[in-house]
Amino acid sequence: MHVIHRRDWELPERLATPERCFLNRRAFLGGAAALVASPTPSAAQRVADLPDPTADLYPARRNEKYVLDRPVTDEMINGHYNNFYEFGTSKNIAAQAKALKLRPWTLTIDGLVEKRIVIDFDELIRKMPVEERLYRMRCVEAWSMAIPWSGFPFAKLVEFAKPLGDAKYVRMETFMDPAMAPGQRAGWYPWPYVEGLTIAEATNELCFLATGAYGKPIAKQHGAPIRLAVPWKYGFKSIKSIVRFSFTAERPKSMWEQLQASEYGFWANVNPQVAHPRWSQANEELIGVGERRPTLLFNGYGEFVADLYKGLEGERLWA
Ligand code: MTE
Repeated sequence: MHVIHRRDWELPERLATPERCFLNRRAFLGGAAALVASPTPSAAQRVADLPDPTADLYPARRNEKYVLDRPVTDEMINGHYNNFYEFGTSKNIAAQAKALKLRPWTLTIDGLVEKRIVIDFDELIRKMPVEERLYRMRCVEAWSMAIPWSGFPFAKLVEFAKPLGDAKYVRMETFMDPAMAPGQRAGWYPWPYVEGLTIAEATNELCFLATGAYGKPIAKQHGAPIRLAVPWKYGFKSIKSIVRFSFTAERPKSMWEQLQASEYGFWANVNPQVAHPRWSQANEELIGVGERRPTLLFNGYGEFVADLYKGLEGERLWA
């Protein structure tokens, strides 16, 4: 497929240098400062968003099992350095993402399940055990963050969905609304954003559905009201603003895989020794910290997930 508009990380290797990251970060920090002083969303949008009926769930009790080896990324910096292509290709997408209409938010659980379920997000979350977890996130672009997510284990959603015995995968889909999300009017992306996991991955204890961050309901630019957090995989697997979970026997094909299969595969597990076709994955920039560190296998989460891939060594397990 001829990709006319390339993502940031699809630049030639010579441009994907630490210096470029550094300069970009300086530019975006300036932009973030400007945004703090920028106007708030329209009155109509504020009315549509308030009050958030899930606000009482946050801050959630922290599960201390998941620890960081670095400071939590500053909320303001994290909230102004995002990838949310539905709203555009800029990292500073928070203002545009305010157009995301959150309620009603209907989730569909279908495919190979006992019974198709259509449920409002506000109702689903009341059935789930919400907790806080500190997770690292490693983007395929060779930067990383550390985030206090709140949400619930994906395994709880699988339990609720009651998949049939022949279901092997779960396919997730983001909302599709080109009138609301200008990026979806760009015809060269095969919208909607789709991602997939094996059910074994989805039920791994680390696999998390985030509904909050920084002790509050999750901000729109992070993929409100519900997004995936799979910290041992490259960030593009962590699909935002999910509306549908489908249980399937066939392996789902993600949006990025449809667009550029040679560079973005199904498994996309972090591995510093396997370079992206156009740049090294050996180390990463800690956004907001001004430091580069060696990247770790499975982003440091091997103790939880390495067993999932035993016997799959013949597969392309890394992005
Ligand atoms: N999900 C949707 N629907 N749209 C996107 O553009 N970007 C992905 C992922 N999930 C994306 C998405 C990429 S490339 C990354 S690195 C992470 O979201 C970024 O999450 P963050 O903005 O909260 O850091």
